[in-house]
Amino acid sequence: MAQLVPILHDEISTELTLHRGLPDQMNMFPRFRYMGSKYRLMDWLNSTLQDLPFTSALDAFSGSGVVSYLLKSMGKQVCTNDSLHFPYVLSQALIQNNATRLLAEDIELVLSGRAASSEDKFIQRTFSDIFYTPSELEFLDNAWAGLREFRSPIKRSLVLAALLRSCIKRQPRGVFTVSGIGEKYNDGRRDLRLSLEEHFVEQVALYNRAVFSNGMQNSSYHGNIFSHGPGDVDLVYMDPPYVPRSDDNCYMKRYHFLEGLSCYWDGLEIMQTSKVKKIKKPYTPFGYRKEAIDAFDQMFRQFSDSILVLSYSSNAYPGLDSLVSLMKKYKRSVEVLKKPHRYHFGTHVAAKRNVVEEYLIVGM
Ligand SMILES: C[S@@+](CC[C@H](N)C(=O)[O-])C[C@H]1O[C@@H](n2cnc3c(N)ncnc32)[C@H](O)[C@@H]1O
Repeated sequence: MAQLVPILHDEISTELTLHRGLPDQMNMFPRFRYMGSKYRLMDWLNSTLQDLPFTSALDAFSGSGVVSYLLKSMGKQVCTNDSLHFPYVLSQALIQNNATRLLAEDIELVLSGRAASSEDKFIQRTFSDIFYTPSELEFLDNAWAGLREFRSPIKRSLVLAALLRSCIKRQPRGVFTVSGIGEKYNDGRRDLRLSLEEHFVEQVALYNRAVFSNGMQNSSYHGNIFSHGPGDVDLVYMDPPYVPRSDDNCYMKRYHFLEGLSCYWDGLEIMQTSKVKKIKKPYTPFGYRKEAIDAFDQMFRQFSDSILVLSYSSNAYPGLDSLVSLMKKYKRSVEVLKKPHRYHFGTHVAAKRNVVEEYLIVGM
């Protein structure tokens, strides 16, 4: 008989349990280390959203998927969107998916996969001596060979979500800007001691446990938010990237390996001169000072029929006053909620800059 994969090691964070107002389901979310993740603002977001009248919502820049997971846990009909492919895969696995879990035979299919051709050994050929050990790179190619046998797109997304979270946990500092090989960042943490395959088996169990139905038909999309159309939703949650102060705000630069892994680099252009084999940075108007104001204006207009909720921060451009004025063009009432927040990302020098005031700008 088909069996579910057991949980070998329970490492779900208990951090969210402290917030009693959050739906219990939030404790099942496999926290994904992601730049700008709103994981630590869940309590605040939950209490703000609870007071608003809506039953359907679009998470327009879903990233790690934690806000979508909150919305789903609140019983809302959720639609997710992100211009990167791997956040889309993460959302497909836990937001769009209401019921599918991986069985022992599914895991067997992944673990017994064998990459035969040189084409199927792309990861070993491309990333040796850059990320992970040779046997781990072989594991990833083999896992992908097994994955190609899957018929169900949702099962594929669950396998990929487990692989993605394994890779980010196993990578020192959780970013792919520098090679992960060598002892420099290895502080002996369990995440760095476990092999990718050991991580994977654990992650499958965690993702299986995180799957749930909220009785709604939820959906996930991958694309530029401006191609999405207005969407027929009561509320749009917007958490776009901020105009960078330096060059370290690029999602592709940090997570190119995850982006590639989520589609086996299909159709992606690798910059061959890059030491870590980065993928070319995609364009987003939110990344440029000259274009950001127009981008916000266009986005507020696009979703003007919905309640607008924008996450923003005091260290970003454009400033709060400009954004409030822009939103007031389309909404009768605009309210700003504020909360001090410390971001984890950044070097020591930049760390000061990472203590910011976080805003929720709500337009009704
Ligand atoms: C601040 S992060 C979102 C974080 C997310 N709310 C969370 O809690 O994990 C911004 C996201 O916007 C995505 N993005 C950037 N430009 C975009 C665009 N034009 N359309 C859709 N998504 C975009 C990035 O890939 C990134 O995942």
